[in-house]
Amino acid sequence: MKVQMQNIHKSFGDIHVLKGIDLQIESGEIHALMGENGAGKSTLIKVLTGVYSKNSGEILIDDKEVNIDSISDSEKVNIAYVHQELNIIREMTVCENLFLGKEILKGKLLDTKKMNEICLEKLSVLGIDHIHPNTLMKNLSVGYQQMIEIAKALLINAQLIILDEPTAALTSKEIENLFKIVTELKSKGVSFLYVSHRMEEIFRMCDRISILRDGQYIGTEDLKIVSEEKVVEMMTGKTIDNLYRKDKVLSGKTMIEVKDLNKKGIFENINFQVKAGEVLGFAGLMGAGRSEIMHAIFGSNPADSGSIYIENKKVSIKNPLDGKKNGIGFVTEDRKEEGLILDFDVSENIVIPSIDKFLKKKMVDNKKINSVVDHYIKKLKIKVFNANQKVKSLSGGNQQKIVFAKWLETNPKILILDEPTRGVDVGAKKEIYEVINELKKEGVAIILVSSELPEVIGVSDRVAVIHNKTIAKIFDEENINQEEVLKVAFLGGN
Ligand SMILES: Nc1ncnc2c1ncn2[C@@H]1O[C@H](COP(=O)(O)OP(=O)(O)OP(=O)(O)O)[C@@H](O)[C@H]1O
Ligand SMILES: [Mg+2]
Repeated sequence: MKVQMQNIHKSFGDIHVLKGIDLQIESGEIHALMGENGAGKSTLIKVLTGVYSKNSGEILIDDKEVNIDSISDSEKVNIAYVHQELNIIREMTVCENLFLGKEILKGKLLDTKKMNEICLEKLSVLGIDHIHPNTLMKNLSVGYQQMIEIAKALLINAQLIILDEPTAALTSKEIENLFKIVTELKSKGVSFLYVSHRMEEIFRMCDRISILRDGQYIGTEDLKIVSEEKVVEMMTGKTIDNLYRKDKVLSGKTMIEVKDLNKKGIFENINFQVKAGEVLGFAGLMGAGRSEIMHAIFGSNPADSGSIYIENKKVSIKNPLDGKKNGIGFVTEDRKEEGLILDFDVSENIVIPSIDKFLKKKMVDNKKINSVVDHYIKKLKIKVFNANQKVKSLSGGNQQKIVFAKWLETNPKILILDEPTRGVDVGAKKEIYEVINELKKEGVAIILVSSELPEVIGVSDRVAVIHNKTIAKIFDEENINQEEVLKVAFLGGN
């Protein structure tokens, strides 16, 4: 199925978000869509799938114009959309999610038997029929939840499946499984529109790429021919060299020391220290337990045993409040669950954890709030129309920057960054690395968890590699080397 979008315009009120976009997806191709945070990728997809109605422009399928004014319209023309933030009902079963709004009836009753059968059939196409149709969605891993979304696509016999940042929350194993299924469906003639900020994935999986910048269509290229530099240039309008930056800072005293931290079945004997002005990176496979270690240190999910010393004093951290009191800031990997209040505005989200600073005689000092919020919007280049915009109307990457801003404002002595650049575009990544280097100079001790090896190596002074639930090896500055780190992550330290 060939899908074309022509001269698409979309505004929200007087905010012009899509300014004449063209996109052509051929039958059986994996078409990448890239652009900086806020460029308009998700909005374009929502126009294509009838979530938003466009102001003008045409959508053609196999050269014939179609009207897509609702999600069910898009399903009728066999287009399926796997959302950036998955669109599932956690309290319902797999089968109920699959058939939501498309329930099969027998007379006036639900034909549960039939739906279970079809459900199992779709799961088996995806190689996951060990999952029972009656399993509650919330009991599945994010990877499986996403597979159920793809099963929904199969149910409507999708000829175009749209994946918006599909790998952002998956473990390495889940990613490989997803790629396998995408490749298989492609070989059956299904097309994909694939949105991601991960260059490696784009070059590995996709055939062609279209690029948006600031709501405008920049161009389409063949991924077998185009270079990574060229793609970055098309996205940002400039060339970015030396993306990673590691300023040498004379490290100070030990800010945090972790001794023999254990949590049954999750991590064992975790020992490390981080000095003021130092970045300790944590590499390892996704799902290796790194986030769990960070939650234990911060107090959001404490360890079973072990001790934590802050500036050489033993502390007891039982909950996030303890973590905060001890000067720890934590940019979590899951901004939706832990990082942000989506219905609050930008300004509220940034100042909430440090609201005490903004109280003057028990009154909120709005002027101070405005100037601080303004500072972060500029510093991190957060794309907002104003500080009173609700966070849920921001693009995914810009939401991530808000999480970053709110923790910076707490002036942490120790800052834990768990996948801080996930879903963030290259330009903004560079900004974040610059902020990390500034914090180093201010004497902050930083712990950086990242599944992007070039990032963890390019930014950290030392790199701890997790394998088999423990730190298999800590690489010093002189010895950090991508191949070695990868080897330890897969095979362990010896
Ligand atoms: N419902 C809305 N109301 C107002 N503005 C919106 C709404 N939805 C999106 N926008 C704005 O439209 C612009 C494009 O957002 P979009 O989510 O399409 O970006 P994106 O390219 O998907 O970015 P990311 O890579 O960060 O996911 C952003 O500036 C965003 O704030
Ligand atoms: Mg998006």
